[in-house]
Amino acid sequence: MIPKLSAIILTTLSVVQGRKPYGVPLPLAHSLIAQFPKPSWIENIAVRPNGDLILTQLTVTPEITNVTLYTIPRPFSPSPSPVPVHTFDGITNLFGIAESATTPDLFVLVGGNIPNSSSAGLYLVWTIDFGSRHNRPPKITQVTHLNASLPNGLTAIPHRNAVLIADSFAGLTWHVNLATGVTSIAAQAPEMSPPLGSAPGTVGINGIKIFKGCLYWTHSALAIIYRVRLDADGRRVQDAKVETVAKLNATFLDDFAIRDDGIIWATTNSDNTLVAVQHETGQSVVVDGAAGELTVLGDTAAAFGRGRDDGCVLYVVTCGGLRSKDEAAVKEGAKVVAVDTRGFEMPKQPEPSK
Ligand SMILES: *[C@@H]1O[C@H](CO)[C@@H](O)[C@H](O)[C@H]1NC(C)=O
Ligand SMILES: *[C@@H]1O[C@H](CO)[C@@H](O)[C@H](O)[C@H]1NC(C)=O
Ligand SMILES: *[C@@H]1O[C@H](CO)[C@@H](O)[C@H](O)[C@H]1NC(C)=O
Ligand SMILES: *[C@@H]1O[C@H](CO)[C@@H](O)[C@H](O)[C@H]1NC(C)=O
Repeated sequence: MIPKLSAIILTTLSVVQGRKPYGVPLPLAHSLIAQFPKPSWIENIAVRPNGDLILTQLTVTPEITNVTLYTIPRPFSPSPSPVPVHTFDGITNLFGIAESATTPDLFVLVGGNIPNSSSAGLYLVWTIDFGSRHNRPPKITQVTHLNASLPNGLTAIPHRNAVLIADSFAGLTWHVNLATGVTSIAAQAPEMSPPLGSAPGTVGINGIKIFKGCLYWTHSALAIIYRVRLDADGRRVQDAKVETVAKLNATFLDDFAIRDDGIIWATTNSDNTLVAVQHETGQSVVVDGAAGELTVLGDTAAAFGRGRDDGCVLYVVTCGGLRSKDEAAVKEGAKVVAVDTRGFEMPKQPEPSK
């Protein structure tokens, strides 16, 4: 049975901290927030200042030629449920989404149709303004075209009216000026590219976040988290070295969230696990899920709550196991899972090996 969110928070509070290596027992307590009909693929998640979740999706049914952005109002309420916000006609995929750094409650997202050849696709960047439209549908504005090969994670540049967008096949990060619509390359590195000689469709850079002046990213195929220093405009500092933050024991890495204390919460999609990573030491531990287990089956991205009571809750979204190449592997509808991270900490010293 899946405990309700309030119940899991109480359970965690009752744990005496400091006796367990991670402060709390693993796996972390979790509960189901919402699930979509099968087949479905939630690709990314952002959280409004009022705590409502926003979900992007990929269309996985070939006949369908549109895609709907969803919100889950009050995910911490007793019976949260998804509500459609907007359907994009003629667009089949919505990828990364993030709140603008300069306008609260205005979100930026990237989407388009994946071309079926190896040629570059033409994608679009929109803003969706929830903030200035009290009790009316949010206003959607097309900002610009993006000539990316495969847009993926998106993050706002602090104090700038601009975002960065990962390009998984081109092995680079785009800079998009939201005021002018001008796109340019902010960072490019071999550590962002699919490995040399890898099969077409192999994903390099995937999720991106800016933390303490560095761009952090997951490399999907290598299961490595990297970082590189950025300047104030969000561009790679010239000659800045790409550093390896952590090499994970996974076959794939998808998007991630970074908690204020620097712990990285990474999703592994077809590995069905949620992994916590210490950004200073590269130490990592699986906190939820396992091969063949449903808890976070096909987890694609994660974000922390912003409501009054759910700042310690990590909302993990999934694709229901659709990435698995194994026809016999279990599949389900995409879902949103709340993971209670309260009290979790990385041990100061690595655990002695057994
Ligand atoms: C989306 O596409 C489906 C299938 O083509 C169609 O039935 C549906 O009406 C469309 N939805 C909207 C809101 O346009
Ligand atoms: C590629 O996409 C085009 C346009 O959507 C379609 O007409 C064509 O049949 C597709 N080709 C393959 C090989 O799927
Ligand atoms: C998009 O990028 C590709 C590859 O970099 C290039 O060949 C093509 O001309 C570009 N298209 C547009 C519309 O800029
Ligand atoms: C890596 O993960 C696999 C599969 O979960 C596991 O069997 C193996 O023990 C792990 N290796 C290490 C070094 O942790």
